[in-house]
Amino acid sequence: MAIAADVKSDQKGSNTGSPNGMEVLMDLVSDDLQAVNALIMKHMQSNVVLIPQLAGHLIAAGGKRLRPLLTLASSRLCGYQGDRHYGLAACIEFIHTATLLHDDVVDESDLRRGRDTANAIFGNKPSVLVGDFLFSRAFQLMSRDSSLEVIRILSDASAIIAEGEVQQLMTTNDLETDRDAYLEVISGKTAVLFAASCQLGAVVAERPKAEEQALENYGQYLGIAFQLVDDILDYSAKQAALGKTVGDDFREGKMTLPIILAYEKANDEEKAFWKRVIEKLDQNDDDLDTAIALLNKYNALEDSMATARDYVEKAIAELEIFPDSPEKSALIGAVQFSIAREF
Ligand code: IPE
Ligand code: IPE
Ligand code: MG
Ligand code: MG
Repeated sequence: MAIAADVKSDQKGSNTGSPNGMEVLMDLVSDDLQAVNALIMKHMQSNVVLIPQLAGHLIAAGGKRLRPLLTLASSRLCGYQGDRHYGLAACIEFIHTATLLHDDVVDESDLRRGRDTANAIFGNKPSVLVGDFLFSRAFQLMSRDSSLEVIRILSDASAIIAEGEVQQLMTTNDLETDRDAYLEVISGKTAVLFAASCQLGAVVAERPKAEEQALENYGQYLGIAFQLVDDILDYSAKQAALGKTVGDDFREGKMTLPIILAYEKANDEEKAFWKRVIEKLDQNDDDLDTAIALLNKYNALEDSMATARDYVEKAIAELEIFPDSPEKSALIGAVQFSIAREF
């Protein structure tokens, strides 16, 4: 399996800050991840040739595999010895991949994982339909687990992700969107899948409810921090490291926390600017630079990062009930990675 190795060597080449928590996590469960990658490759196959062609374009590009890594590490943290977590980790990555295919259509994005998006190459229609296929594969994988509790967690998560995406659509171009509404959107569209990824470790290991809840909370807080950083990177990242087009959120008029904070502090002239570019989507070539200058003027990126750090601390605090172990250190490292990352 080349995927994990490729991802890892890419990550070693990037400056992700220190400590590189992602690397610790990957080293800890690298054999397990090979098994999960094999399942992913197996289950993306279909006799309908466009399906493996299009899905393979995105899947072979790597991605961090962060959610399955969290499932694998959480399972081990809970002392799980079986192999149910492989199928569940693959299922989680299928849900994630399906949402990416749909997301890039909705966001009209051109670049993902350093490659042209599937919608840019194959078009919107095949991307939406193959996304549906991957969702369905995810449901096949979860039903094979035959635990109703697992099916409930993953099907609830899928519904909440979709709700979060629709809710986000309703806040796009709406400058009245506040911080609470934003946090609700990212809790749904991103954090719930992180929460499920971690919670499942305790579920398969049949650990007490308190541990299951702690891992669910850990994942939820990590997911919120992860999306906050994603939204900061959309204004501040080096595009080559990110593998996505910087400024996509701005061009869409997406109400992310940096914009919300800068708009709160804006003077009348600046308010008029935000109304033109975000509400009316009437944008010129230099408006992104103006927007970034305004974000910097009001420390909106730093303040958003401070919010991300608050969630990082909350995530780490949830792990306190677990005794120290390499798995616990790796989960702490994953949180640290989520705010130090450049990709
Ligand atoms: C991208 O997630 C979508 C968000 C929730 C921001 P990742 O950054 O985990 O994407 P890949 O799988 O590594 O490409
Ligand atoms: C990611 O959202 C999609 C989901 C979480 C469903 P974004 O649109 O914010 O993420 P990127 O920047 O395209 O990866
Ligand atoms: Mg997007
Ligand atoms: Mg989106």
